[in-house]
Amino acid sequence: MEDGYVETKKSGMSKPQLPDPCIVVIFGVSGDLTHRELIPSLYALNCKNLLPTPFAIIGFARRDWNDDTFRQEMNATMKTVNDCGVEEWERFSQKMFYVKGNFNDDPSLSYKDLAKKIEIVRSKMNIPDNVLFHLATSPSDYGTIIKTLEAASLTKSQTGWRRVIIEKPFGRDETSARELDKDIHKVFNEEQIFRVDHYLGKETVQNMLVFRFANPGFEPIWNRNYIDNVQITVAEDLGIGTRANFYEKTGILRDMVQNHLLQLLCITALEPPVKFEAGALRAETVKVLNSICKIDLLKHVVLGQYDEGEINGEKVLSYKNEKNVNKSSTTPTFAALRIKIDNWRWADVPFYLRTGKRLKSKQTEVTIQFKPTPHLMFPKVSNDGLDTNFLRFQLQPNEGIFYTFMAKQPGAELRLQPVNLNFQYNTTFGISELPSSYQWLLFDAMKGDQTLFLHADWIYKAWNIIDPVIEKWEADPWIKVPNYYSGSWGPKDAEILLQVEGRQWNVT
Ligand SMILES: NC(=O)c1ccc[n+]([C@@H]2O[C@H](COP(=O)([O-])OP(=O)(O)OC[C@H]3O[C@@H](n4cnc5c(N)ncnc54)[C@H](OP(=O)(O)O)[C@@H]3O)[C@@H](O)[C@H]2O)c1
Repeated sequence: MEDGYVETKKSGMSKPQLPDPCIVVIFGVSGDLTHRELIPSLYALNCKNLLPTPFAIIGFARRDWNDDTFRQEMNATMKTVNDCGVEEWERFSQKMFYVKGNFNDDPSLSYKDLAKKIEIVRSKMNIPDNVLFHLATSPSDYGTIIKTLEAASLTKSQTGWRRVIIEKPFGRDETSARELDKDIHKVFNEEQIFRVDHYLGKETVQNMLVFRFANPGFEPIWNRNYIDNVQITVAEDLGIGTRANFYEKTGILRDMVQNHLLQLLCITALEPPVKFEAGALRAETVKVLNSICKIDLLKHVVLGQYDEGEINGEKVLSYKNEKNVNKSSTTPTFAALRIKIDNWRWADVPFYLRTGKRLKSKQTEVTIQFKPTPHLMFPKVSNDGLDTNFLRFQLQPNEGIFYTFMAKQPGAELRLQPVNLNFQYNTTFGISELPSSYQWLLFDAMKGDQTLFLHADWIYKAWNIIDPVIEKWEADPWIKVPNYYSGSWGPKDAEILLQVEGRQWNVT
């Protein structure tokens, strides 16, 4: 097994404090999120010696499973991930238990079975009364599950703690987000609620903060005097797959912009927090949102929907022809926005955000484009404005940080050329794949550390920014869709959004 201590010591950090011994109860344990992320992440923590001892997992879903079939099912999933040996998996899987039930059951039925199971597991494994509930379910089930957990006397403890993790989407607008929170707050207080935006758990996103605030070189120029514009691209080459029912009601603005893209913008633009801890970080990210100017749908937003096209040499369907999509759907699958942050640091620096499905390639990047030198004494490289310095935080693929600057080509003539200084995780740290963000999110939630989780105020404010754009589009989707081919970089208007300001997208 890897040793969490040695690994972190190498990187100059102290031994991580382990969470309290606890039970993680996963609602929706037979679903996709559990298979792909939750169990593999908990097992990866186990392999790094980062789980508490004793520790157990109890799964809850409708499937007709028992402890053994649950373990076999998860074993089949784990064959596809890196592990730390068959024997270790065997030991780990003995800590997994299952309760069959329906979220809508009366508290005296399956929730009572859950209460009994928690007691049996606790006493058998000598675990204190600490329980983390992870709701890996549709958000429409959150209210029912939390209310019934309370009715079944599972939400309070005299001797230990109770916490709950909930997954996005947090409502579909500000009003529904507030209603959802009201229901959750009837049972749990804010310190017990862990709202996941998995982007915050990504190594590269945390490294953006480290880059800015642990290195003295860039912070003095991190402002309108030196930065020309900031671009955030979150591009997917996949379509909606089998998620039509969800996507038709959601669209790209709710699914990506209100959460992940605004989160990346906040991390890029925030003022230095006093400490790397939840309160300080959250206060600064909310301040950024409060400084965002009203977004005018007609002037500052380009929406789109994908047509048929070709991705990696394969023909793909248009959005309207995907299974279960309405043939006259105007649901956007692409958005580009120009955002203005009205504060001392960022006045007049445009933040261009772009995200979409069925784009040319899967790529997530935050690019800082610096202003050109005030006077260039050398021959210009090009007239496209790109002979300047760029700092790129690449979140996927090939995670790393890249700085592009001008250098002289060797030779008799003085010729300039853009060159790169690169930091890549795989070459620097010798790891082919970064840990899933869920590892750190689960680890932190077990420790009660909310730094990488969202506060309700941030969510309300983010909806407050995006709601007017969605409302206006839904009242009058004036652009004829589809308006971009699968395999392209989106509608032509997204290029024009930057061209009218003398700029162009850096990710192409
Ligand atoms: N999948 C992802 O990659 C991903 C990523 C980020 C966020 N999320 C969020 O995570 C949550 C879960 O997503 P998912 O993709 O895992 O969903 P999913 O595959 O549809 O799984 C839903 C789970 O809920 C259970 N379930 C549904 N209704 C139930 C009921 N009435 N009683 C008991 N169990 C019931 C299902 O169990 P049975 O079918 O066995 O009954 C299944 O285990 C959602 O909020 C989603 O937005 C997912």
